[in-house]
Amino acid sequence: MEKKFTTKLIRNFVIISHIDHGKSTLADRFLEITNTIPEEKAMPQYLDSMPLEREKGITIKMHPCRMRYSFGGENYILNLIDTPGHIDFSYEISRALACVEGAILLVDATKGIQAQTIFNLEMAKKENLKIIGALNKIDVSWADISRNKKELASLLGVDEKDIFELSAKQGTNVEKILSAVINQIPPPAGLSSKMKNFPSETGSSGFSALVFDSKYDQFSGVIAYVRVFEGRIKPGSEIYFIAKKVKSKVKEVGYFKPNLEPSNSLEEGEIGYIKTDIKEPSKVKVGDTICLYSEFQKNPEKVLPILSYKEPQLVLYLSLFPQDSNEYEMLRTALYKLKLNDPALDFQPESKMALGRGFRCGFLGSLHAQIVIGRLKQEYGLSLIATSPQPVFKVLTKKKEELTVYSPSDWPEASLIEKVKEPWVEVDILTGQKFSEKIFSLMKDFESEIKESDMMGIDKILIKAEAPLREIISGNFYDKIKGVSKGYASFTFKQIGYRDGDLVKIDILIAGNKEDAFSMIVPRQRAFTKAKEFLQKLKNNLPLQQFAVPLQASLYGKIIARETIKALRKDVTAPLYGGDVTRKRKLLEKQKKGKKKLKEKGKINIPAQTFLEMLKG
Ligand code: GTP
Repeated sequence: MEKKFTTKLIRNFVIISHIDHGKSTLADRFLEITNTIPEEKAMPQYLDSMPLEREKGITIKMHPCRMRYSFGGENYILNLIDTPGHIDFSYEISRALACVEGAILLVDATKGIQAQTIFNLEMAKKENLKIIGALNKIDVSWADISRNKKELASLLGVDEKDIFELSAKQGTNVEKILSAVINQIPPPAGLSSKMKNFPSETGSSGFSALVFDSKYDQFSGVIAYVRVFEGRIKPGSEIYFIAKKVKSKVKEVGYFKPNLEPSNSLEEGEIGYIKTDIKEPSKVKVGDTICLYSEFQKNPEKVLPILSYKEPQLVLYLSLFPQDSNEYEMLRTALYKLKLNDPALDFQPESKMALGRGFRCGFLGSLHAQIVIGRLKQEYGLSLIATSPQPVFKVLTKKKEELTVYSPSDWPEASLIEKVKEPWVEVDILTGQKFSEKIFSLMKDFESEIKESDMMGIDKILIKAEAPLREIISGNFYDKIKGVSKGYASFTFKQIGYRDGDLVKIDILIAGNKEDAFSMIVPRQRAFTKAKEFLQKLKNNLPLQQFAVPLQASLYGKIIARETIKALRKDVTAPLYGGDVTRKRKLLEKQKKGKKKLKEKGKINIPAQTFLEMLKG
């Protein structure tokens, strides 16, 4: 009886939006209204606790929080999950959505609907969530409230009066939307609500919880963040992770307040954490289902996953090498530590002749890669060499072997290649109608095929195209799309499989020496343009040397492009005033000889910053 009563007073919800539309700021207001954070500890975007989140002003990790709120004479428990807005983390968002019954869909009233608004909305609809639409930032003088309200209402298929007008910054109408969370979002339902294949005849397996995130605690081990769908769990119980096939003892359970606060048990419908005795972070993954170990032993067939488990899809790979080879161990330790709280990060040791020992790393997308490299620099003080990011290519050799190419160094010799395959994506671009022509023609430059375009709202257009992933992950694509639309275009993408590609490998030579980190896989047709662009960029980023430095691009041994960095000319004759021409010439001769010697010594020292600049795509 008592348990039912508790469930009725629980509301589990998320805030979803395009990046920067104000999720974390709205979460701040909720924390204030519900007195979850003591006033003296409050600070903007409170839930974004990672230093890099604070520096970049974006949410990278998911942040759950349990709040108490008195409303209509009842004491409600509100479990909020603040989700990251960026597409790189959409797998995690999809798992967070599976843990709740409702979502606030927030739209910035100065920008209107964006690509990620639609993408997130589609994911929320798949989970059958109750969606509450809200326009944020109405305090901004140029916000077009009526137009954007109309657009959002039509996107959601609701009446305009059902859209909330908020200023998360000033707290306007925040209490009203909190009442809507209570009145409109249903209390948590049981397992049958999520599992399409819920075995009604066999009944329940006693306990079932979905993992939507995890954290590593160096003292206790892995902490799983869960939503309980069925039964209850207490410290001391033995649990089993169905997909990863791992057993563990429950050391502690509790809630996010937002810091971890222990409780006696976690009940059906609740969101909370389970401290396990698992010391290996990769054994606990987002999307896995936890059941009781005893139930699994009794009847392994009966314990079913709540959702089908998927490994997060890594989109791009690059290799990281310490600038100073003595820092290899430091890099390894740093990567292990980062992986503890970022299970999607993948790395394997790798050794290259010129670059020494390093790691081949896999990421969810460009932002994910930038964040990890940023943290390695900022939190661990490492100077790194990073190779160009690339997707995973597949090469079929003449011997009919299929090679998986994670980096250009895996690329076989031209004579051995039979066929190349590369990943393609479906790209959704949302923009103002007046920019559509420019976007259409731009997409051709990125080798993409336009599939369809649909009007959205009042004057927006949703363009669907298919493109090679390598084009979409280049910073160039993002910059160009933003450029031609004056910033009024946003996009999302998802992988749709492999297709044949005509690709070649280009090597870059600096002062005659091949620089492995700069090798790249490019379309044959654009090899020359790509090589030229790269060399020009390299020329602008490499510091001047004592002697002239040739920069060359080679395609299977043949030089196809060249640039030269002029020598740094130190004026050795400066101390000589006026006349003494012979002495002046002698000094210049001496300088020339010195430079020749330096040149013979060969290798140029490339600063870590240059590698990072070149990485920006
Ligand atoms: P991501 O997690 O990176 O997707 O961002 P977010 O959606 O959590 O947005 P966040 O709360 O970090 O806000 C982004 C920016 O908008 C910040 O500079 C906020 O101060 C600002 N902002 C948020 N809400 C409002 C608002 O109601 N009015 C105004 N003027 N600014 C706001």
